[in-house]
Amino acid sequence: MANLRIPGPTPLLPQVLSSLSQQMISHRGKSYEKIHQEIILGLQYFYQTKNPIYLLTASGTAGLETAIVNFFSPGDQVVFFTCGEFGNRWAEIGRRFGLKVTQVKFVDGTGVKNVQKTLSTMDKIAGVFITHNETSTGVLNNLFEIAHIVKAHSSKPLLLVDSVSALGGTDLPMDSLGIDVLISASQKAWMASPGIAMVAVSPYAWEKHQRSTFPRYYFDLSLYEKFSQKNQTPATPAVSVLYSLRTSLDLLKKEGKEKVFQKHIELRDYFRSEIKKLGLKLLVADAEASPTITALFPPTGVDEKEWRNILKDKYQLVIAGGMGELKGKIVRVAHMGYITKLDLDQVVDSFKKSLKEMS
Ligand SMILES: Cc1ncc(COP(=O)(O)O)c(C=O)c1O
Repeated sequence: MANLRIPGPTPLLPQVLSSLSQQMISHRGKSYEKIHQEIILGLQYFYQTKNPIYLLTASGTAGLETAIVNFFSPGDQVVFFTCGEFGNRWAEIGRRFGLKVTQVKFVDGTGVKNVQKTLSTMDKIAGVFITHNETSTGVLNNLFEIAHIVKAHSSKPLLLVDSVSALGGTDLPMDSLGIDVLISASQKAWMASPGIAMVAVSPYAWEKHQRSTFPRYYFDLSLYEKFSQKNQTPATPAVSVLYSLRTSLDLLKKEGKEKVFQKHIELRDYFRSEIKKLGLKLLVADAEASPTITALFPPTGVDEKEWRNILKDKYQLVIAGGMGELKGKIVRVAHMGYITKLDLDQVVDSFKKSLKEMS
């Protein structure tokens, strides 16, 4: 079996895998409603929120679009603090829908900074958007510092956070940080199969929703709210994916969130130290390093595509390449969800052997 170390879909635990093979049920019946409710409770535990969470049958990008079309109106002034391709993507969605976007970009491999300074130069901001874990570079933005700065701004903007690739494996308490809209996706640290985006919404964001004039249908959260009263979704949900998510959440909850978060930090630190021992250069400084994904440079003279092909074909190790400006320059190794230290040892060992071969 391949060692799948891309940042989603992540491997599935055997119990999660077998849960996918259950027979279909009516999504308008009691059995479904029970599963739906259990999933919401499990997600609320990891989101650390009492807010409602909506399950969209779609990937994480749909969650990003949902956040734009439900809480704003064309021409609203918003700020995106971005530090890589997923931040760029979200800002682009905002532009395409007609928001007045100020995008503050940070160099690839570094995190968002100077939030206070930037916001102090602006007087009317409807929303501030931040990618919690920039998967294209492996940077974790420190929402514990940033959130209260955003919330203290005089124009009371909404704070919207993409934690598609960190939530479930990383501490991000929605309610105590005052995050208004928080998005994740099933195929990442949640260690379920791909197909479900989750969107949590604060009471303040709901107020804004009432005034939003963007046209929308499939992603209209009013519909999701109405159906969530019955623990249902407005349209047919991806029932099999939800089977897997219920099982993985059950296992994660049994382990306990503190242990799960700590495990991710330990695996990150272990992997980074092993990479340093190999003499390979990491893209991100220790202080901003993601607990779920690590980017590194191939040694000089080694073609990253060729290296990844050798790793895949000879060592059954599948890792990701760079994105955007970093395409061809870095490789990325995910360590989220169902993973042990042994999997990372195999990565390190395969790196050692393949690079020796290529030198
Ligand atoms: C931070 C981040 N945001 C958004 C997305 C988009 O998610 P999806 O591919 O599920 O649409 C990803 C996917 O890797 C991501 O890592």
